[in-house]
Amino acid sequence: MHWQHRPRCDQASAWALLQAHYKQHFAAHVFDLRRAFAQDPRRAPDFSLQAPHVFADLSKNLIDRRARELLGQLARECGVETHRDALLAGEPVNVTENRPALHPLLRAPPNDPGVPAALHDAHAQMLRNLDNMLSFAEQVRADASITDVVHIGIGGSDLGPRLAVQALDAYVTPGAARLHFVANMDAHDLLTALRSLQPGRTLFIVASKSFGTAETLANARAALDWFHAGCQRDAARHFVALTARPGAAAQLGITRCFTLAEGVGGRYSLWSVIGLPLAIAIGAAGFRALLAGAHAMDRHFASAPVEANLPLQLALLDVWQRDFLGFASRCLVPYHHGLRQLPAWWQQLEMESNGKSVDLHGRAMPVQTAPVIWGAEGSNGQHAFFQLLHQGAQTAPVEFIAVRQAGHPLAGQHRQLLCNALAQARALMVGAEHPDPARRFPGNRPSAFLLLERLDPVSLGALLALYEHRTFAAGSLWGINSFDQWGVELGKAIARDIQAQWANPGAGDLDASTAALLARLNG
Ligand code: F6P
Repeated sequence: MHWQHRPRCDQASAWALLQAHYKQHFAAHVFDLRRAFAQDPRRAPDFSLQAPHVFADLSKNLIDRRARELLGQLARECGVETHRDALLAGEPVNVTENRPALHPLLRAPPNDPGVPAALHDAHAQMLRNLDNMLSFAEQVRADASITDVVHIGIGGSDLGPRLAVQALDAYVTPGAARLHFVANMDAHDLLTALRSLQPGRTLFIVASKSFGTAETLANARAALDWFHAGCQRDAARHFVALTARPGAAAQLGITRCFTLAEGVGGRYSLWSVIGLPLAIAIGAAGFRALLAGAHAMDRHFASAPVEANLPLQLALLDVWQRDFLGFASRCLVPYHHGLRQLPAWWQQLEMESNGKSVDLHGRAMPVQTAPVIWGAEGSNGQHAFFQLLHQGAQTAPVEFIAVRQAGHPLAGQHRQLLCNALAQARALMVGAEHPDPARRFPGNRPSAFLLLERLDPVSLGALLALYEHRTFAAGSLWGINSFDQWGVELGKAIARDIQAQWANPGAGDLDASTAALLARLNG
């Protein structure tokens, strides 16, 4: 079967079987997790999987052995493995832009026998780009005159590096330059970051694959103005661009560039030169360890059989939860302060990749696709939205992430944190009876529990690659292109139009509401 001619999930015979199974065993709340555990002593181990650096207990989800078996059949019928092989072979899986999705190649080490011959040149170029970026990072680390680094970028050019720098805080070299991240077009963001900085001691990184993103260009221009106003020294030493379009960066006056391939999607670009702030923070060896962790997950995704393949099993569960159980959102709660940015990162990954309603062939999707992704770090979330998770009228599957070893010396407090994660997952499942309905917990609420041994560059790389592949595999089942994002374009075009009308009111054709609001703002 060619990857472009695979059946969409709802066209597979397993889909109809899943519907019948759902109707008989899950509709009308027939399936009960508490009973499932009582009846099946092997449920916990048999619904758990070990992938490189990530253990996952999926047993507290609303799924039984038959549903899992049918989902495996669904994956086979839909040719997800063929599609995965095409992704890893560098075929143009991003069909609307006719290009490959090369992020796994960024993680392949030199001389990796797994890199297909057709990708040898692209891989060699990526390794050169990586070496250049890492040796620059080491230069910055050795330059005591640079005390602060401001990373300007948005979306995929911000979320990944920002998350990784926070997550790997324990690996940041003491005395290294301070990292600041600026994304928002709202200049409060940039001006707050600049408040305590000195131009002559600051390095600006302008990260934009397209070098055409309005927010990033506005902030880069403002940063250049701020720099020139406060420092007469050569701006070339204080600005660096990370982009696939060095010509556009040069037009802005930024001549030092590190480049990434067009075939690397923005939300998949942490592994490319876009990771420069992380390399400055933790050094070249740490950055290579991140790539190694992601590569280990790539190998697992490429070779583990369907039943043992963690990204694929998570994707199948996602489709089951979205299209059969009807859960419209998924909540992520990492119990590690370093992972507090993970929900925002995952939100872009999943919602920009799979938030589509037409398939690869342009046909309207007959089933639901990506859910809303949301969440916050534990234990903070317990004091904010867990009320709804436990007693709300709608169910949102929760994904807990815990890290066994603390990255700090307060072992007792870490144990308390882990116990809270376990307690929340258990409380969601077991619920509690009470004569007062307001104090009753229905239970039977699903969760997954992911566990890392420690939060280090290797395990972070594996975790993020796991999420990337899971997103791709779910998109593959839905038969959509997970690598484009046309849905962000209309708003950008209308913003340009409105900006033109700001200067020339009444010139355009605006609806009455927008025109009246514009008149108020421009009064
Ligand atoms: O507008 C969405 C988007 O294109 C994302 O996909 C991307 O990560 C972000 O903007 C930033 O794009 P760039 O790196 O080209 O500035």
